[in-house]
Amino acid sequence: MCGIVGYIGEAQAAPILLDGLSKLEYRGYDSAGIAVYDGTDIQVKKATGRLKVLNELTHDGVTMPGTLGIGHTRWATHGAPTDANAHPHYNSTETIAVVHNGIIENYLKVKKRLLEKGYVFQSDTDTEVIAHLLDYYYKGDPIETITKLMLRLEGSYALGIIFKDHADVLYAVRKDSPLIVGKAAEGSLIASDVPAVLKYTREVYFIQNEEIAVLSRDDISFRNVDGEPITKESTTIEWDINAAEKGGYEHFMQKEMYEQPKTVRDTLSPRLKDGRIVIEELGMTDDEIRGIRKIHIVACGSAYHTRVTAKYVFEGLARIPVEVDLASEFRYRNPILEEGALVIIISQSGETADSLAALREARSRGVKTLGIVNVVGSSIAREADKVMYTWAGPEIAVATTKAYSAQLIAQYLLALKFAQVRGTVTERECAGMIGDLKKLPEQIELLLGSKERIQRFANRYIAAKDVFFIGRGIDYAISLEGSLKLKEISYIHSEAYAAGELKHGTISLIEEGTLVAAVATQEDLYKKTISNIVEVRTRGAFVMAVTNTGNTEIEKAADYVIYIPQTNRYFTNSLAIIPLQLFSYYVSVGRGCDVDKPRNLAKSVTVE
Ligand code: F6R
Repeated sequence: MCGIVGYIGEAQAAPILLDGLSKLEYRGYDSAGIAVYDGTDIQVKKATGRLKVLNELTHDGVTMPGTLGIGHTRWATHGAPTDANAHPHYNSTETIAVVHNGIIENYLKVKKRLLEKGYVFQSDTDTEVIAHLLDYYYKGDPIETITKLMLRLEGSYALGIIFKDHADVLYAVRKDSPLIVGKAAEGSLIASDVPAVLKYTREVYFIQNEEIAVLSRDDISFRNVDGEPITKESTTIEWDINAAEKGGYEHFMQKEMYEQPKTVRDTLSPRLKDGRIVIEELGMTDDEIRGIRKIHIVACGSAYHTRVTAKYVFEGLARIPVEVDLASEFRYRNPILEEGALVIIISQSGETADSLAALREARSRGVKTLGIVNVVGSSIAREADKVMYTWAGPEIAVATTKAYSAQLIAQYLLALKFAQVRGTVTERECAGMIGDLKKLPEQIELLLGSKERIQRFANRYIAAKDVFFIGRGIDYAISLEGSLKLKEISYIHSEAYAAGELKHGTISLIEEGTLVAAVATQEDLYKKTISNIVEVRTRGAFVMAVTNTGNTEIEKAADYVIYIPQTNRYFTNSLAIIPLQLFSYYVSVGRGCDVDKPRNLAKSVTVE
């Protein structure tokens, strides 16, 4: 999704804006632009394509002098990715410039009114409507203008605004799109996300819905939707500055895969105390936990895949019925949410539009909601009744790896906690499982250590046309994620099937040499999956199997076997996914794909 930055201070703005935008590249974009007040006018430069085009155009910002500016990376929604549609956008007299993240739902209606009043538009965007509307309302007072704008706009927005008449102030406002403000030694910044400001400051304010930030060279203040002053507390960001950089790895995805042992440890450790699971942030009494009648787990993409695993885990351990839903379906299907239901929304970014809408739908029906979220202070984190954070740190690669692993851990912990309280596992069983959870970081490390073998294997498949992933039970959930990882970063067509389902149609696609990745970590289903392996192999498939150490019998059926260390049957996903992530990564690298920024994809899908 789009990225916003803004700066006001003593330093030259343009290089800071370009640097900030480079830290937001992970959000996905197809054009970029900056506006800088040069002491006389607001200058705008924009370019379609990668940021380096804008860097070249502005000689890394040198040709745009000035200490107040805004910048933007655009991921096209209204209008094609062109220079004209790129942000910032001006009013007709070029005295107001604006950058926008989000979607204005009533922009056509507003545009019609503005056209009737004689406004002329240069682009197809909903954002240009904002620039002209600001112009229409502007009578010399920016705050009054912005509050009028807020009342008129429907939809989502994070805005950075410059008024030429008030060139010593940077204005920012948000509703349903992320925006932060950072206070640095030599000025203040706005940004869509923390990595863009980390180089300059760790003191950050999270702007809430319908709040306005007013940044001058030496002060930051805030207003509400009525323009009244409000006070806000800043947060100190604890992330290591390197956490938002590549840290010596070739790609963010590679770095993030290697951070998984730490991520898993960080998500687990604070919730394991004296051999018990303590999830303080859950804020539920034991009676409330016993009173849960049904769990609805709602998410998108990889986060949704963790829910498929979680269904098996919650039902198996805590004996609570679980319904899993794609957020984009849940929000429109009029779900039956009865008393005693708990709706869990899982999201790395905490800003995914469908997941946020699903959360609001659940809340509007009065059921309890719990967000499992990675980004602190994000919309889902703020709006859910309770929030359980995954401590994965910033995830930059579009394809999720470490946040996915952390989401699994959070759900294992919850399921085990619920099982403990409801008495569906014995204390002994629980202690055994906690022991297995604690071993996961080391086991993941071990699997990551076998990367060369997987890389060699992956190199043989860089020209593959179709790959199928199969598994039963939890192994099916792993297959879904393995398949998504491969297709999203390598552009190889792949599909995941419950292994028993393949022969009901899809097996007709198996040809001589087709790669089938079979996951077989569930002892009770192991023999069944072997039969499915034999079925595809006799039709010419080449089978790569992922199974538990000791299951050597599989070597008779599969062509290539990857063993994962022994763990509890409910936790195998956390281990089996590692070789599948590595496989996808090396196929993508081998094909020369843009691993961290796959085509057509955005890290945070903040539009429907
Ligand atoms: C795939 C991927 C996406 C996200 C999905 C939800 O690698 O990252 O499928 O899992 O867009 O995003 P969040 O978790 O931010 O809600």
